[in-house]
Amino acid sequence: MHPNSPIAVIDSGLGGISVLRELVRLMPWEDFRYFGDSANAPYGEKSTAEVRALTLSHAERLFSEGAKALVVACNTATGAAITALRERFDDRVIIGIEPALKPAARSKTSPAVLVMATPLTLKQEKFEHLLAQYNKDARITVLPCHGLVELIEQGVVTGERLTAHLQELFAPLAGETPDAVVLGCTHYPLVREAIQQVIGQNVPLFDGGIGTARETLRRLEEAGLLNGTDRTGTVTFENSADSPTLLALCRDLLEEVAK
Ligand code: DGL
Repeated sequence: MHPNSPIAVIDSGLGGISVLRELVRLMPWEDFRYFGDSANAPYGEKSTAEVRALTLSHAERLFSEGAKALVVACNTATGAAITALRERFDDRVIIGIEPALKPAARSKTSPAVLVMATPLTLKQEKFEHLLAQYNKDARITVLPCHGLVELIEQGVVTGERLTAHLQELFAPLAGETPDAVVLGCTHYPLVREAIQQVIGQNVPLFDGGIGTARETLRRLEEAGLLNGTDRTGTVTFENSADSPTLLALCRDLLEEVAK
């Protein structure tokens, strides 16, 4: 482990780019190595054991190839694997992400909060604990968003097909507008505008990207692993699907969200 080494950022596919954006903004001097496991996406429809095994094997490879820290930029993989990761790599800097329930639950008095997440995230014990922590402060409804990650992985981040899918997902709300929405999957901030349009322009949306970036900075500082701040860092993209189109989409999404 060396301050000059890159920070590995992983997700089931493109979603972690919404976290990478915040990491690059906060630490432009660092080198980032982004790995998306699009060949195995969506994680949210797999079993906990499958997602845990995939996440552990990515961590093993990235640490052995010299990463100084690992950011699990995926709520589903964090829920399924963060405990196992911390046990197996107990001398490493590992940061996870969880649905941003805290700021949403405290956004006003007793708000109606809608949590959008993958089916597997919502099934995790970790999520049960999070709910128990905040359901005194807010009226929380969960919405498993089947099919949304698949659309985003196909590059559908705007347009009618996406809007129609979101309208179908929100149909159980029967027109009731929540006071706050938690984007509990890192893919969803990539379609923030479409979500905002369908749910209502005034509804605040919360995601864990900024908090995760701040926590990464804090942990690197604490471990004495920050790179020199007088340099400009690099971002490299890798994807298990080995598709030039996907890699181009990764670069476009980073630029798009960085605007
Ligand atoms: N981006 C991931 C998350 O934050 C998971 C998407 C998937 O289902 O693969 O939960």
